[in-house]
Amino acid sequence: ICLVLDYGSQYTQLIARRVRENGVYSMLIPGDVTLERIKSVQPKAIILSGGPNSVHVADAPQLPAGFFDYIKENNIPVLGICYGMQLLVQSLGGEVQTVETDGEYGRMSIRTTQASELYSDETDHAQMVWMSHGDKATRLPDGFQAVATSEKGTVVAIENTAAQLYGLQYHPEVQHSERGIATLRRFLFDISKVPADWKIENVLEEEMAKIRATVGPTDHVICALSGGVDSTVAATLVHQVLGDRLHCVFVDNGLLRYKEAERVMDTFKNHLHLPVTMIDHTEVMLARLKGLKDPEEKRKAIGAEFINVFQTFADNFEKDHGICPKYLGTLYPDVIESCPPPGTGQKHSHMIKSHHNVGGLPKDLKFTLIEPLRELFKDEVRALGRLPALNVPEAFITRHPFPGPGLAVRVLGDVTEGDALDVLRQVDEIYINTIRDFGLYDNIWQAFAVFLPVRSVGVQGDQRTHSSVVALRAVTSGDGMTADWYPFEPKFLQTVSSRICNGVRSVNRVVYDITSKPPGTIEWE
Ligand code: XMP
Repeated sequence: ICLVLDYGSQYTQLIARRVRENGVYSMLIPGDVTLERIKSVQPKAIILSGGPNSVHVADAPQLPAGFFDYIKENNIPVLGICYGMQLLVQSLGGEVQTVETDGEYGRMSIRTTQASELYSDETDHAQMVWMSHGDKATRLPDGFQAVATSEKGTVVAIENTAAQLYGLQYHPEVQHSERGIATLRRFLFDISKVPADWKIENVLEEEMAKIRATVGPTDHVICALSGGVDSTVAATLVHQVLGDRLHCVFVDNGLLRYKEAERVMDTFKNHLHLPVTMIDHTEVMLARLKGLKDPEEKRKAIGAEFINVFQTFADNFEKDHGICPKYLGTLYPDVIESCPPPGTGQKHSHMIKSHHNVGGLPKDLKFTLIEPLRELFKDEVRALGRLPALNVPEAFITRHPFPGPGLAVRVLGDVTEGDALDVLRQVDEIYINTIRDFGLYDNIWQAFAVFLPVRSVGVQGDQRTHSSVVALRAVTSGDGMTADWYPFEPKFLQTVSSRICNGVRSVNRVVYDITSKPPGTIEWE
């Protein structure tokens, strides 16, 4: 096991994923963990993640007491990345200074300065890396060597080979770091000598075993199905273990796409044979959203309403069966980008949006969370769902992600105004069908339409119109954490624009969103 201690970087789970991609089982736990917990994992290698804090702030996360004695006695190599490197430097008596005006953010060139273990003894070799730091190491602890520096002279890679301690100021885990994976592999295989024997099948076996161990022989589990690949794969997996002790609920919150409820219910029942109850909550949800314009208020209201429905379903279940059920979880980008809920262990991330599936969970939630896919990325979930043991239909596996708050984050402002939701449904259906007609669906991570709360002047049939504007968005991405807009051919844009304006009366203008993430997010709200 390679243990990744999480100090709250946006990229922490990417580290865990990169380790797995290289065939090594990785486990991610919060950075303020106790030494006992670390010992219980018996790691063969430890990576300390980056994080938004400076080691100088009052409550900056620290390594547990006795950490260095433990790794020395057990011969465990440690790699600190960004904040993790600064933590190593500061904890061992070196000096870290805050860079007041001259931070290094984005793509940077670095150069190795001497033979090293991290770079397979290459000297004077340049590479581009992704850097994002406000602090830097200005004096190294005893026994450490600087083995690479940036163009500005910042020490960006350090090692103490005798103590098996290594540090990188940049992020080797992100795509933009040219030889980052090679450096991670040096740490895993040449330095730590961990075996590369992990594959996706292991997740299936391990998660099934965990469910067997957690859920007692008479316990029942309830699971909210969203119609997306994540909850579907999770439910299918749990269903394999628990059979009819799993009870799924699918909530029509009034914010779904065109014919979504009937389509997904058909797949659940007739293809996956999952036990699902559908609850129509449209009226209550739209009444609750009436007048709400602020994106976070909308997200919170939807999350809270979802929990209400779910809780009622659970209460009724308890009344009917006399048993208190348990609950299923979610995927990592949701956990990282949301306000950290109790029990997830995510303490140091900065909130970007409250993704409702986790951000809205109340403190007194009475369920135990079972989260079989908690640390997996979308493409890993897809690989899992494709395994013959789960056999989720390919059309379901390749579906684009759809956010929990649904079309509410795609009708900007008050979703209940006029017929915005219906217009958006029609536009979205035309857009997705056109993408399919052009054979592009599987090249795109996610495509959707957005209803804008503005009107524009147009001319249709010689008549002046003053009608709605819709924006189209399509992005490519590996994991939803970063994304690029999709470069459609003009022929496609021409066709889809004309199909929408001809097919949906109240729309007279179509625009295409050409913003990457960052600086935009994928959804508009
Ligand atoms: P953003 O807009 O944050 O979206 O760049 C990243 C990915 O997450 C999806 N998303 C959500 N998924 N609940 C979800 O299950 C949510 O509240 C939520 N908000 C955004 C989004 O569609 C994209 O795939």
